[in-house]
Amino acid sequence: MQSAKTDPKMVSILGATGSVGQSSLDMIAAAPERYQIHALTAHSNVKALAQAALAHDAKFVAIGDETLYAELKDLLSGHAIELAAGEQGLLEAASRQTDIVIGAIVGAAGIRPTMAALQAGNQVALANKEALVCAGDVIMAEAKRQDLRILPVDSEHNAIFQIFEEANIDEIDEVIITASGGPFRQWSLDAIERATAEQALKHPNWDMGAKVTIDSASMMNKGLEVIEAHHLYKISQDKFSVVVHPQSAIHGLVRYSDGSLLAHMGAPDMCIPIAHCLAWPERASAPTKRLDLVTLGQMTFEAPDLVRFPCLRLALEAMKHGGNLPNIMNAANEVAVAAFLAGNITFGGIPRLVEAVMDKMAEQGCLPVSDLDLVLEVDREARGYARDHLPHLCH
Ligand SMILES: NC(=O)c1ccc[n+]([C@@H]2O[C@H](COP(=O)([O-])OP(=O)(O)OC[C@H]3O[C@@H](n4cnc5c(N)ncnc54)[C@H](OP(=O)(O)O)[C@@H]3O)[C@@H](O)[C@H]2O)c1
Repeated sequence: MQSAKTDPKMVSILGATGSVGQSSLDMIAAAPERYQIHALTAHSNVKALAQAALAHDAKFVAIGDETLYAELKDLLSGHAIELAAGEQGLLEAASRQTDIVIGAIVGAAGIRPTMAALQAGNQVALANKEALVCAGDVIMAEAKRQDLRILPVDSEHNAIFQIFEEANIDEIDEVIITASGGPFRQWSLDAIERATAEQALKHPNWDMGAKVTIDSASMMNKGLEVIEAHHLYKISQDKFSVVVHPQSAIHGLVRYSDGSLLAHMGAPDMCIPIAHCLAWPERASAPTKRLDLVTLGQMTFEAPDLVRFPCLRLALEAMKHGGNLPNIMNAANEVAVAAFLAGNITFGGIPRLVEAVMDKMAEQGCLPVSDLDLVLEVDREARGYARDHLPHLCH
């Protein structure tokens, strides 16, 4: 652990080859006197992982896909770096003692590594929203047990973190999460149904990995974020709302009972929340984009349209229903997004598949999220249903 104020913080990044992982590496490289890399992981992008390990002098590197271990070993031969592979390798990377672990794996694959980092007593800065969506109760309970605060990297949650007055939690009337509306904000339902992957991957404001970009286009991302926020901030579901704000200048707002509405603003640049988490509880200068209010000129706000964006409706229903329905919904969505990107279903097929799996599994009753094994079992089962149902939607 950090022994003196002047020592650099040791940082591990799970999902170092992704969009958040790379932005995190950039922020760390910009302040070597403050941060040093300990462990890095990736799933299959072995070359980028090896390159990052060398560039950032990593001490421990793990590749999720075990078949790539030999290649990783070759790429890093002659360097004093400990190597590992497979799920055990990822869990070890997460468990190594550091000052901060950045959880930037995409999807439910991030659940176990996030838990492992917390169980080892590491401070976690979490971008991987699916971990909280699927296993929020278990993960938050572990953070509490370890007396650790999960630092939110997601820009909306990081914004709320900065304006959320814990001491006045009973006086919070509303937490508002903003949404850009994505590339299809002004499209008709019919046009959205037929949107191509190329169109869905063109986000107007944010440069992100493929899965979260598709989720943004369907607005499932906003639904996942509301569920994530519900776990992080422990206030009742009916106090959360979503407002479409196409300029992405305000990322989150908190309304207090005295009428004050606090907003957090910044450029749409993931480096800002990452820099905030790295320096927390202090603040430190970082080479992030600056929001110029005069250039911005104006801000607009709209209500989300749950008819054109049924994924947001489904996520809000899953949150309201509770239990493991968000877990089921997330698994179905991951299968649906992969099928859409592979060209097997239409964009409109994404919510249809998610709804079909939620309906099917809800028939069996939704269990509380009591332990991680159950979460992963439900995830597997929901993926199975989703894959079985896919042929009904293939074009
Ligand atoms: N990108 C953003 O601006 C942004 C903003 C807010 C929140 N988030 C959230 O942050 C998370 C990461 O997003 P991203 O856009 O950075 O994703 P991304 O660019 O797709 O990167 C995902 C990372 O996870 C690794 N990974 C993928 N599958 C894995 C598996 N099965 N096991 C272990 N590692 C695996 C990838 O390794 P390989 O490269 O080897 O595949 C990569 O390092 C997501 O949950 C997303 O919702 C992202």
